[in-house]
Amino acid sequence: MPAQLLDGKVIAQQIHTETAAGVQELKTQGIEPCILFMRIGDDPASRAYVGMKDKKAAELGIRAQTQVFPEGTTRQELLAAIHQANIDPSIHGILVQAPIPGIPQEIVFSSLAPEKDVDGFHPVNFGKLLLGDPTGFKPCTPAGVQELLTRSQIPLQGRRVVILGRGNIVGKPLAAMLCQKGQGADATVTLVHSRSSDIPALCREADILVAAMGQAEFVKKDMVKPGATVIDVGVNRVEDPSAPRGYRLVGDIAFEEVCQVAGYVTPNPGGVGPMTIALLMANTVRAATLK
Ligand code: GUN
Repeated sequence: MPAQLLDGKVIAQQIHTETAAGVQELKTQGIEPCILFMRIGDDPASRAYVGMKDKKAAELGIRAQTQVFPEGTTRQELLAAIHQANIDPSIHGILVQAPIPGIPQEIVFSSLAPEKDVDGFHPVNFGKLLLGDPTGFKPCTPAGVQELLTRSQIPLQGRRVVILGRGNIVGKPLAAMLCQKGQGADATVTLVHSRSSDIPALCREADILVAAMGQAEFVKKDMVKPGATVIDVGVNRVEDPSAPRGYRLVGDIAFEEVCQVAGYVTPNPGGVGPMTIALLMANTVRAATLK
């Protein structure tokens, strides 16, 4: 039987409905939630991602502003703009879109006020995540994966989760979240990376396999345990002269063949992507609530 799809668009919409209610509640208290996006240079993917987030914020009644900085913006200039946003009481959330050309992103993320870091990458928020302290902000993509699993009633307690990719944006924080004690976690987590040996064998142990290593169609059907849940976080460009832009976007899993073996699979697009945006909006409303 082919795998069932875990529809991120439907589940993201459930979260947006809750978020929109939160926005209305804040507005009755005279608070208008506001998120500031900062984008540096002219990376088309960054432009598209910020555009999608900005549009969704407006739909939910969240005020959104975007500051675009030219490529060549210095560290000092960017940090000065972040400082202004940090001290501006009308701004509740700040997101600096990566990649940030020419400036180490750790320095940028560390300069955000932790209580406005709705992206969840400030060391204070990352540390709280590791400690299991719920007062911090969780990074939106791994939090979106966790919500997608729990709202789809995919059990995690005691199950084997294998995460491909140890990056700071997805793999590392997701591993921390899913091995935590408590609901929507309690899993036994294996974090697989480029130096891991026998990756296919490790993948076949997974009840839940999360592909977040950024390699086009890396996960093949012989790497998937029959009936497993497979989550595709990847967005990769592959050249395709027949496509209108000369490339097409593919995930980290070979979708068609994985569907023949898996129990549940995320479509891509329409799986993890919408969840990331939903969690960002939810974090922004929480930031405004905490104020
Ligand atoms: N670039 C790719 N993913 C992300 C993300 O989650 N947050 C930010 N700020 N930049 C990104």
